[in-house]
Amino acid sequence: MRPFLVSLLSTLVVASDVIDIPSDIPKRVLKPDIYGYSIEPSSAAPYIKNNLTSNLMTAIAKIIGVPASIRVGGNIADQTLFEAGLKSSSVAVPNDTVVDTFRIRKDWFRGWGEYFPLETKFIYTLNLRNESGSWMNAMKEAEAAIDVLGASLSRFELGNEIDHYINKGWRKPGWGTKEYTQQWHRLTRQILSSASYKNAKHKPHFQAAVFADPPWVPDQHDEVDDFDIINVTRAGLVDPKIIDSYAVHLYPQSTCDAARESRLSLNLLSNHEVVWKNLSQFIPQEAAARNAGSPLVLGETNSASCSGRSGISDTFGAALWATDYVLTAASIGIEEVYFHLGHQSEYSAITPLRYKYEGEQLTAGVRANFYSHLFLAFVVAGNSGQSQKISALPAANTSDFSGYAVFSGSKESDLEKLVFIDLAVWNSTKGLHNPSTLSSTDSDAVSSGHRPQRNGIVECEILRAEAVLIQKA
Ligand SMILES: *[C@@H]1O[C@H](CO)[C@@H](O)[C@H](O)[C@H]1NC(C)=O
Ligand SMILES: *[C@@H]1O[C@H](CO)[C@@H](O)[C@H](O)[C@H]1NC(C)=O
Ligand SMILES: *[C@@H]1O[C@H](CO)[C@@H](O)[C@H](O)[C@H]1NC(C)=O
Ligand SMILES: *[C@@H]1O[C@H](CO)[C@@H](O)[C@H](O)[C@H]1NC(C)=O
Ligand SMILES: *[C@@H]1O[C@H](CO)[C@@H](O)[C@H](O)[C@H]1NC(C)=O
Ligand SMILES: *[C@@H]1O[C@H](CO)[C@@H](O)[C@H](O)[C@H]1NC(C)=O
Ligand SMILES: *[C@@H]1O[C@H](CO)[C@@H](O)[C@H](O)[C@H]1NC(C)=O
Repeated sequence: MRPFLVSLLSTLVVASDVIDIPSDIPKRVLKPDIYGYSIEPSSAAPYIKNNLTSNLMTAIAKIIGVPASIRVGGNIADQTLFEAGLKSSSVAVPNDTVVDTFRIRKDWFRGWGEYFPLETKFIYTLNLRNESGSWMNAMKEAEAAIDVLGASLSRFELGNEIDHYINKGWRKPGWGTKEYTQQWHRLTRQILSSASYKNAKHKPHFQAAVFADPPWVPDQHDEVDDFDIINVTRAGLVDPKIIDSYAVHLYPQSTCDAARESRLSLNLLSNHEVVWKNLSQFIPQEAAARNAGSPLVLGETNSASCSGRSGISDTFGAALWATDYVLTAASIGIEEVYFHLGHQSEYSAITPLRYKYEGEQLTAGVRANFYSHLFLAFVVAGNSGQSQKISALPAANTSDFSGYAVFSGSKESDLEKLVFIDLAVWNSTKGLHNPSTLSSTDSDAVSSGHRPQRNGIVECEILRAEAVLIQKA
């Protein structure tokens, strides 16, 4: 699954269709580390119990030239309490699958800080929910993280999905952009003026906002509030000196409630029109972030919220979705995308430990959706670890076919790669089973007839080359 490379190309012919690369096409940044992971805090310890994840991250870093960034955050971030005298480095109560409270001490940061490849950049989510003693708990977390992680700590987040706080009973109705912005500035001032921050050789910055609700899908909002990037930057959450990025979360589908669960579908996931619908709602949000001086990132995402769904989230169709999703995000200016991991979640691309689930014994392993990362590693590699530019191609823009041009610079002649994704569903699971996924959800559907193929001929101004399009795995 390597994207093919061409230089100085003008036209691509796919069957009888001609795909032009318009010269005035808008180009956005394609960062080498666009693809990252978000790890639920209570899953950090299970992930580092063996070398599976670090080996995979080392392999990816070798291809790209820089390691994937890791955010340690999620719902449990606002249920995390720092306790210096804890008997072990972390304790999940009642247990690490159902977590009410997660307790940590300082060496918990060392555990995951030293596990990932050198130069890995970390984002850590502080507990904003717990205001007691003027965020005494968050201050202790910040001090420990700065002290232990040093230069690898790139950004703090203050709270996770703060637009669900009223619904969770953590803030009173009426808590909105004005109140949040005041609290955000108060806590960041406290951190910036603390001795540990002042004395730190490397000073981390901040990822602001961290909103969950999709702006154009009002029936998926958990509470009445005014949170979005447009409103929050208008309310004064602007400080490009310390805000490196604004984060929103996005899960195209959901298993969280019966209504959305009944709509779960792989056909709807592996569909470029849907990817466009889901992501284009963030175009005005991206513009608002950019106007405020910092880029927008998808700080936490995956196929379906509330842990995903076996048979959808762990398929090669999901790998096609993630590939298209990341490139579409980049083409509208979203510079980083963090795929969420729980050590026993159905959507996790990597499962670090064996576990019993739905009556089956699942092994540790790599799931199909990890191949999106591997594929994209080859797309973003090769500019000496520097950012490239990307454009979505207007002539490859249907529900089952998308295309992108990747440039090493801003000029048309800087064209480096073309990436085409055939998202058409083709059922072909036969005699195969991944022991780290549920066998009960393996599809037994087999599409009839011959698997369709797309072939392309690349016509270049200087060279004529034949290229084989990327096919569905
Ligand atoms: C993981 O890798 C490190 C460094 O290569 C090695 O020292 C350690 O023994 C490995 N741990 C396991 C559990 O294999
Ligand atoms: C975790 O705690 C929940 C709630 O007390 C319980 O239902 C579940 O069985 C526990 N899981 C394990 C693996 O102990
Ligand atoms: C808030 O933090 C304090 C310690 O700083 C702790 O005693 C208290 O239980 C925490 N409250 C919640 C709701 O976690
Ligand atoms: C932004 O604020 C306006 C005015 O208060 C409000 O009407 C709108 O719903 C808010 N946007 C979101 C996404 O909540
Ligand atoms: C993504 O798009 C699908 C299809 O239009 C829609 O059902 C779903 O609600 C969207 N999800 C989000 C979070 O926007
Ligand atoms: C792809 O099609 C959508 C409409 O479905 C359109 O809004 C979008 O601008 C198109 N993308 C490109 C790159 O032309
Ligand atoms: C693939 O299988 C799914 C589930 O059985 C079915 O809905 C879909 O129509 C099939 N698609 C093709 C192209 O065979």
